[in-house]
Amino acid sequence: MSDAALRAQALEGLAERLRGCTRCPLSEGRTMVVVGAGDPDADLMFIGEAPGANEDRTGLPFVGQAGGLLDGLLGGIGLSREQVFIANVLKCRPPGNRDPRPEEIAECRGFLVEQVALVRPRVICALGNFATRLLSGHPDGIGRVHGQPLPITMGGVDAILYPVYHPVAALYTRAMLGTLQEDFARIPSLLTAGSAPASPRSRAPRPAPAPPGVEATSQLGLF
Ligand code: URA
Repeated sequence: MSDAALRAQALEGLAERLRGCTRCPLSEGRTMVVVGAGDPDADLMFIGEAPGANEDRTGLPFVGQAGGLLDGLLGGIGLSREQVFIANVLKCRPPGNRDPRPEEIAECRGFLVEQVALVRPRVICALGNFATRLLSGHPDGIGRVHGQPLPITMGGVDAILYPVYHPVAALYTRAMLGTLQEDFARIPSLLTAGSAPASPRSRAPRPAPAPPGVEATSQLGLF
């Protein structure tokens, strides 16, 4: 079996474990666990916040209005959701779509680290504040850091963290769509830069630090 096939199989095993997860009280209110979806060998991974009502019902990420916007933004750079991998910080819906709580993020974080370790994306696009703060390990909000790539290591994978506004922001503030489109327009060059010899990255698994985690390897705005 190829390396990619093995990783896809491991992702399915992770999905199975997630479906039985009772690590936090969100498991009691969920209809479905929203594991994530897309190409298990994608170069580009998106990480949102948490499932909403539509995602909780279908078990798929970003299928509501925000999902339509994400599809449009992807289409604008010539990609479809089948070519990327989409996951969330939380895999279960918080009641009433409230914000994720620190203890829920802490319980769920290991699953996201495993997903990154298995998909091995070159670029991780964090959608909004929760994903950005979790992956950067820094409290700066999305208004300050959107559009600024940051090299990180997560789950033993060197990647470029690229924070953008959460698409739902464009549902409330129409002008935000232009900002999102501008930030998305830079993604293709980040994908290419990630594979250039001048900017080496490792797609090979490395011994993960225990416990597996996230380390920002430089300050924001280096690129
Ligand atoms: N918002 C998110 O952050 N994730 C989803 O899956 C849907 C909406």
